[in-house]
Amino acid sequence: MTRIPPLLRFLPLLGLAVTLPGGQKQAEILEIATAGSALVLAVAPDAPVVFRHYGGRTAGADAFLYKGHRDGPEVYPAFGGTNFANLALSVVHADGSLTTELVYAGHERRALDAGREETVVHLKDKLYPLTVDLHFTAHKAEDVITQRAVLSHREKAPVRVETIASACLPLQAGAYYLTHFHGAWGREMRVTEEKLTPGGKIIEEYRKGVQTTMSDNPSFMLALEHPADEEAGEVYAGALAWSGNYRLSFAPDELETLHITAGMNPFAAARMVAPGEALETPAMVLTYSARGRGQASRNLHDWSRRHALAHGGEPRAILLNSWEGAYFAFDEKTLTGMMDDAAALGIEMFVLDDGWFGNKHPRNDARAGLGDWQVNRQKLPRGIGHLADYAVSKGLRFGIWIEPEMVNPRSELAENHPEWVVKSPGREIPQRRNQWVLDLSNPAVQDFVEKVFDDTVALSPNITYIKWDANRPVWSAGSEYLPADRQTHFWKDYVDGLYKVYERVRAKHPDITIQLCSSGGARLDYGALKYHDEFWASDNTNAVDRVLIQYGAGMIYPAIATASHVSASPNHQTGMMVPLKFRFDVAMSGRLGMELQPKDIAGADLEFARRAIQNYKRIRPVVQLGDLYRLCSPYDEKGRAALAYVSKDRKEAVLFAYNLYHFHARGFTFDVKLKGLDPAKTYTVSELNMKTSKSVFPGNKKTFTGDYLMKAGVSLSIPRPQESAVLHMTEK
Ligand code: DGJ
Repeated sequence: MTRIPPLLRFLPLLGLAVTLPGGQKQAEILEIATAGSALVLAVAPDAPVVFRHYGGRTAGADAFLYKGHRDGPEVYPAFGGTNFANLALSVVHADGSLTTELVYAGHERRALDAGREETVVHLKDKLYPLTVDLHFTAHKAEDVITQRAVLSHREKAPVRVETIASACLPLQAGAYYLTHFHGAWGREMRVTEEKLTPGGKIIEEYRKGVQTTMSDNPSFMLALEHPADEEAGEVYAGALAWSGNYRLSFAPDELETLHITAGMNPFAAARMVAPGEALETPAMVLTYSARGRGQASRNLHDWSRRHALAHGGEPRAILLNSWEGAYFAFDEKTLTGMMDDAAALGIEMFVLDDGWFGNKHPRNDARAGLGDWQVNRQKLPRGIGHLADYAVSKGLRFGIWIEPEMVNPRSELAENHPEWVVKSPGREIPQRRNQWVLDLSNPAVQDFVEKVFDDTVALSPNITYIKWDANRPVWSAGSEYLPADRQTHFWKDYVDGLYKVYERVRAKHPDITIQLCSSGGARLDYGALKYHDEFWASDNTNAVDRVLIQYGAGMIYPAIATASHVSASPNHQTGMMVPLKFRFDVAMSGRLGMELQPKDIAGADLEFARRAIQNYKRIRPVVQLGDLYRLCSPYDEKGRAALAYVSKDRKEAVLFAYNLYHFHARGFTFDVKLKGLDPAKTYTVSELNMKTSKSVFPGNKKTFTGDYLMKAGVSLSIPRPQESAVLHMTEK
């Protein structure tokens, strides 16, 4: 970064510097702005940096000099001084002192590119040679601001950092409504909204290390004054870009300011930082919307497609994954047969899941072979190359599964490298899914994991997709690589090690599509996602449950990245019978794939599947690159759900409507008003994926103005549970 000479750093950005009421210091306003939002700070030499505003952008930001109290709240409160409400940083200095008082020491700005500007605010301790740089990146068009902190010092010996947050946000309102995303295996990203009460709320994961998003996602939405509306009212959204233990805390103080603090979880994670070393936090991603939760989601979707997702602007291939269709029980013929059928259906890629490797300990179930990434010669005598070539001969791309961070005790890898396994000395190493975690804080393990990726890709030039899985949490924390007095570094070093591998892999294989998977959605965050093209939202492929899971995921993560597969009925996880049309209609609202034995689809269903895949190809750009509008929530007890995607030029839209369990014998219509269309345009509305020749929409194939579709809406006759409709609107 080009450093601005210290003298220039203090030039007021907006031209106004005044003496604050009762204060002596000259203050100036520092505005970190996007097209529609601004984060405003008041800064003065050697004084704490005061937070003034985060919300809608106004002209004349200098007026914020006169808003609020001159002493606070601080933008990055440390333990020490007069800050009483919140804590971003807690340090034990080299001499044992517990307190830190951070004050302004200048700032600098630079354009990263036409759409992004970085502002670095330098803070220093009043007493010790310790500094914290706050890096804010304004993503102007998307109204997203990311924030991270970098600490360093020149004390005489290492300092012990107990807590270091990525960002703090003090907000002021009469009431706060928090939306967060609770989960478990098979029901990830369930949406919960609650009014915050005194005492506050903490959403965190503090000991899984891996699979940290299975029980709660490190993201939220927050509405002021009223429960969140989809298209009205002030809503903030936040997502921590971190794949390890995290903590989001929402603490109202006695003055009714809500302090949001986000960052790595400090539990058992103190860090010794040597003089001259830099400790960097993950980024907190924030967006502000004056138009409800819907716009907040659209901001994040646009931002991630442009800045935080691999190949975010390129529509994804429709794939058949082998897992639920074959599990571990396959040979070459099973797979080539699946490829034949996939190609005949119009599918574009075949992905070979778990079970293709291991010789001394063949991976024929989940009990052995993990870690031994050599092709199983008995199952696949002609190797992966033959399968990948076969796929290409059928017009398909070829992808393959790996789980390189893990090892079965019954494997050659565990026999050869017991020192690589995460463990606590002297204790039994607990197993989960018969496996252990490899210690990615160890550079030798990082090299190994990188090599697994490289070697797998090298199995055939026709491999263009990797599914990267991770099927257990840490539990038995401990590293043989880290010294005894650095064991608390394990949590961060693991994730840093993982990101180093991602970086290296991405540099070498920029064109490979990579799926982020962890027993479904147990690793889903913007830290990992930027190296991936998509994520496996859940191992639960039951379409009824997927409506709820995908509705939640879509609040924060975009549809282009949400892998959503049509699987068998009865569903393997829940036993539920679901019609093929409903399964397709749900999977088509994300990145469509299939995950079953195609031979099990026959007769009229086969023809239906072929047509649905064709239809998806038509609507794919709108679903994957368009704007999401949530129209009816599956969480509001009505038993129905609806959402629509609208193309950026508003010439096209696709409506998905689902009846989950509402039952009405006669005369029931599901009335849905569209959003986001151009009122002045005229659209032809066509039902897709029709089961019979009679449309569920009486106006099928007719034309309507956008104005009518948004004010009067469409009436859909889908009265029974598991009936659904897909309407495609195209400008006439
Ligand atoms: C868990 C994943 O979520 C599944 O999709 C599948 O890949 C299995 N692991 C394979 O072991």
